[in-house]
This record gives sequence, structure tokens and C-alpha cells, in this order.
Amino acid sequence: MGIEFSEQEKLFRLQTKTSTYQIRIDETGILRHLYYGLSVGTMDMGYLSSYQEQSLSGDIREPYERKHDPDFLPQEFTGAGIGDYRISGIALTAGDGSKSVDFRYSGHKISPGKYNIPGLPSVRGKPDEFFSLEITMADVISGLELKLLYGVMAEYDIITRTAILTNTGNTGMKLEKFASACLDMFNTKLDLLHFPGRHCMERQLERVPLDHAIHTISSRRGMSSHQQNPFLIVCPPKTDDDQGDCYGMMLMYSGNHKSQIEVDQRGNTRIVMGIHDENFNWNLAPGESFYAPEVIMSYSSSGLNSLSYNYHRLIRENVCPEKFSKQRRPILINNWEATYFDFNTEKILKLAREAKDLGIEMFVLDDGWFGNRNDDFAGLGDWYPNLEKLPNGISGLSKKITDLGMAFGLWLEPEMVNELSALYTAHPNWALQDPGRKPTLSRNQLVLDMANRKVQDHLYQSIATILDNANIAYIKWDFNRALANVYSNVPGANQGETAHRFVLGTYALLERLTQAYPEVMFETCAGGGGRFDAGMLYYSPQIWCSDNTDPIARLNIQKGTSYGYPVSTMGSHVSASPNHQTGRTTTLKTRGIVAMSGTFGYELDLSKCSRPEKDEIKSQISDFKKYYWLIQKGVYYRLSNSSFNDSFEAWSFVSEDKSEALVNLVMKDVHANGGLPSVLLKGLQADAWYQVEGTTKKYTGAALMHGGYTFPAYKGDYPCEQLHLMKL
Ligand code: DGJ
Repeated sequence: MGIEFSEQEKLFRLQTKTSTYQIRIDETGILRHLYYGLSVGTMDMGYLSSYQEQSLSGDIREPYERKHDPDFLPQEFTGAGIGDYRISGIALTAGDGSKSVDFRYSGHKISPGKYNIPGLPSVRGKPDEFFSLEITMADVISGLELKLLYGVMAEYDIITRTAILTNTGNTGMKLEKFASACLDMFNTKLDLLHFPGRHCMERQLERVPLDHAIHTISSRRGMSSHQQNPFLIVCPPKTDDDQGDCYGMMLMYSGNHKSQIEVDQRGNTRIVMGIHDENFNWNLAPGESFYAPEVIMSYSSSGLNSLSYNYHRLIRENVCPEKFSKQRRPILINNWEATYFDFNTEKILKLAREAKDLGIEMFVLDDGWFGNRNDDFAGLGDWYPNLEKLPNGISGLSKKITDLGMAFGLWLEPEMVNELSALYTAHPNWALQDPGRKPTLSRNQLVLDMANRKVQDHLYQSIATILDNANIAYIKWDFNRALANVYSNVPGANQGETAHRFVLGTYALLERLTQAYPEVMFETCAGGGGRFDAGMLYYSPQIWCSDNTDPIARLNIQKGTSYGYPVSTMGSHVSASPNHQTGRTTTLKTRGIVAMSGTFGYELDLSKCSRPEKDEIKSQISDFKKYYWLIQKGVYYRLSNSSFNDSFEAWSFVSEDKSEALVNLVMKDVHANGGLPSVLLKGLQADAWYQVEGTTKKYTGAALMHGGYTFPAYKGDYPCEQLHLMKL
């Protein structure tokens, strides 16, 4: 396992536990993609691809042969303008105005450990887990050097990729597009699974058959977005949760992204993934390099649950900050849906005391504690306490909360500013805005120019001052609008770079803060899950999954999210019923079960809860603590997709050693005379006996997996069940 190069065959073999990835340096020096899929050992897969003469396509000249036609060749990365008419990974204008690029192999290096990408988050590589391959390609005419980097994490069935472009010539160039990875596949007839959505309804799985057209998954909002997540899966039509080949590609990036999937004239598929090229224009001066964000790829031969497992494990262990995956995270109460902007110290302390009595461990003070912030028209940017609401400031309040025996957390929205703020009055040119044009407002706010180092320094100082003067265990880092008027007022700024420099600026600030305050846990958020991506997860082990806290809406949001991201990353809370976003009424039990399949917390006015409800909350908290590691580290299975039933959602967590499982079912609809809901459980030990906790019911793993577990007939609104199975 790892990476091997055969000089004789000119063949790179990248081998993970179950997959093989092969690359050949061919006779023209082009880096040919040979294969990605189920492990084929040392078999040379070159027989699958060969040059073929095709009328009306270009021919490579060195060495010239009419059959050297790049338009049909599976390649590791593309050139531009040289006769490959499929989607390209690169576009640029050289100093002389030319736009063609022709990369040929010039060297390679294989090394243990993981490469780093300057300025960008990437999968954390423990030295013994990774092997890296760096292949250098050169375009001799322009002086461009392309490095393709591959990281092989064999045990995790993960291959990471990125690309670095360096101008080794004497004249400047304008880079107009530069993808992170290109994947050419021979498989015909693939489905595309992707995760579109909207505010309050993020990551709704869509599955479409690929056809002879180009599908684009993208964001131009300056954030990875509610609308299209930078993650996709391709698989043959027969693949489902439990069986079949599937390939995932996830971009570790929080800004504008674009993935295109093209089925060419011969039925082969090309996927190109990277930063969005619209309005992207990077000055690549002589000697300078451009670093593309990382793509995390995984393959599974046994269905989508298993592909999800590969991503879950990797993100938990090698993307999120390590410290927070090793310790149990606190159960929190957030005051947003309890008070919105309308609070004072007494109200907050009352809520905190009630929460403490129920066993809640951390109080999070949300929006409205700073500047002149009494609604969403003013205050963003002024990160000092509103003394009318909090006479003793954040340090006084945090002390009172920690004296109660709870941790204290605080909301911030660092990248934003209101026009009605001291910060904007002092530095109007720190906001993104075009000269002479009134910038577009969204939620009454503007976006700060994170590309401006002065803005980064100011935010660092403001946040550090808060952290240094109060006892803060957690920061909720919000981001409540998309970018518009993407114009940096830094003198000499090249505006085609602003959107990417914005993301680099945010990462730089997060990096500084998380390095300086490693004890503080960051939960990122963007109007809910508008920046739910692996880039953000590198700094924050959890992300507020959606502003929609309705448990029934959350079923699809959390399920869609689960294809790529583990439940340990999904911020989810029990909120009031009727729900504030949908008006739907659900039981506390249903709200609890859904929120437990996430980071778990509460977000409601506890003073409105009855005594029995408070007792139920106490028992939810004790259940969550009991099942914490099973939920957070157990293998997650989507169960309902394989049943003939769309009236419920079911999912489970099974411990790695298969000794216990937690099975969850929520009825979305109940039907008169509708039959009993039944699900096939997964991941159990076939020949072991399991007992359902609190009952005398015993079943073999085989029975539960192949016969299924039958639930009783339910009545009422959105009933649910949670079963704990213990191996006997
Ligand atoms: C949007 C977040 O998603 C909410 O949870 C809350 O923090 C509000 N912003 C506050 O403005």
C-alpha cells in the first residue's frame, strides 16, 4: 500500500486499502490517467486507454503522429488550447497574449508524510499515515511549471490532490482558471449525486443521470454556499447506500467553487474541480506560484454508506482540530431562539441557571451583546459589550456564568460590518465596495475586505482582547450574507484576486486565532449551513448545520449532510415547538432524537417548559452523555433508503467493534392501516445475539440485517423511537 513507481513501465501505482489509482507517463510525456477503482493489485491498466485517431481533433506534434489525439485521452491534468476540447483545468494569458499551455512530465518525487499547501487548510497528515507523490510537469514555451500533488492515506481509502502552478519565465501572466484536480473516468453511464439547497434547507440530495452535457456544481457567492455544496459523488445507476461502486470528490475550500462534469462524445466522464473561474484573474509574476485548494477523493466498492464512512473518519480524525475529536464536547444552550436581540443580564442569567439545573454544560450568548446592536441594522464591527444590556461587560457576565459551573461561549460575526457602526464610520474603505457605487446590502450589512491585512489585524486584536479579558471556551463564528461588490480598496489590488484573497484572509485570521487560543472551540456558521465545508472544518470541529431547527426538516438536511460529513460536525439543537421557522409542532422526544444525531444542545426559553418537559430534558441529556461516543465515533448508517417506505427516516450508529448500536426512527407521516415500519439494520455481527435495552427482546445480527427490525404501528404527529442494542 502507498505509492510505487515503475521506471520500466513508467507507471505510478497509488494503492489504498481497497482502491488502486494508476498514472502513466506516456511516450509523449503526457500524464495519462489509467484507472481509479477497486484494487487491481499490480496489473497495468494501460490497456484501457490508447491514442486513437479522430477526425477534426488536434494531434500532438512531439512526437508527431496522427493518432496522438489529446481529445480522447484520459489525463491527470489538462493543458489549454492544444486540441483537447473537453473542460479544461487551466486558462491563462501569457505575456505575449497567447493562451495555449502544453504540460509534459519533467520529474517526480515520492516521500513519506503529507505535503502542506501554504495559506490553505488541508488534510492533516500524521507522518505514518500518508505517502505523497509530487509530479512536475513543464510547459517549456511559456515557462510554466505545474506540480500535481497526491496524498495517499491507505488505511482510510483516501487520496488527496492539489496542484501548484509556478511561473518560471521572465514575463508576467494572467491566470484565469486553475483547477485543483481533474479526474477522467472510463465508466459510461454514471449518476451524479450532489447537494443543492437554500437557506433553511441546505444539502438536499439530488441524484441525476449524467448525459452528454456539462453539469456544473458551483458557488459565486464568495462562500461555499447554502445553494451548492463543494462535494459530489458519481456512481453507476445501480449503486445505492449498501452496494456498488462510488467515487466522492470534496473541495476543501470555503469560497467560490466550481465542479464540472462532462460526458464526452465517446461516453467518458471528466470531472474538473476547483476555485470558480468567473471574475477570477490572478497575476502570476515571474517566480510566483499559485496554490489550488485540496480535493479529497475516496472510492468505495460497497455503496454510499461505506463512502460516507471514509469521509466521516477522515474529517473527524484528520481535518477537524484533533483536540476536539478526542474530548466530549459540552452540551450547550444558545439564547438566540430564546431571546433573539431582546435580553439583559438578568434574562441571560435566569436562562443559564435553568439550563445548569437540567445538566446543560455551556451557555452561548448569541447575537446582540455588542455595540449598538438591538436589531440587525446596527453594531456589526463594534466588538465591545453593549453596557446597557450587560453593565459588567462580557468579562462580568462570563464570570457569573462560569461561577454557576458552566462554560461560556460567545457569538461573533467578524467578517461583517453594519454601516451604522463605529468601525464603518472610521474605516468605510475596509468594506468591499466599488468606487462610487452604493454597495448591495444584505441583512442590512456589508462585508469586510478580508484581503486587507489591516482588517485582519484589527479583527485579530478585537477578538484577542475579548478572549484575553473573559473566560471564553467557545466562539460561534457567524457569516450572514453572501459577497457582492467584490472590490478591494487596498491600493493596487488586482480585483480578479479579491474573492480568493478574501478566503485566504479569513483562513489566515482563523489560523492565527486557533493557534493563539487552542483551548477555545470555534463553531462556524453562515446563516446556518452556508459555509459547511472541509475548509471551515479544519478550524472548527462543528458547524451550525442550518437555521432551520424543525426536526422534521432537519431529517433531510442532516441526512444530506451525512453523505460527506460526520454527525460530530453538525451543530444541532432542540428548539421550541411550534418551531420558529416552520410553525410545526413536534414532541420533545422527536426533537431530542434528531438533535442528538449532531453536536446536541438546546435553543429555547426554558422558563416556558413544564416540569415534565424539564424532566424529559434531563433524561435526554443523560442519554446523550451515555451514547456520546457511540454517536460521535460509531459507524453511521442511513437505513431508510433501502425500505419501500417514504413515511419515515431511520439511521443508526454501530460501534466499531459491533458490540452496540443505537437505532433511530422518526415517522414523517403516519397512515391509517399503513403497515408496520420495518428496517434492515446494518453493520452488526451476523452470528452475535443482540438485546434491545429495557426489553427482553433478543435477535441475531443476521436476523436484524436480513429480516429487519419491525417497529410498532405509530399514531400521532411525528412519533419516533430510539433503540439501544447491546451484544450479548
Ligand atoms: C444566523 C445564525 O445561523 C443563527 O443561529 C443566529 O446566530 C443568527 N445568525 C444571529 O444573527
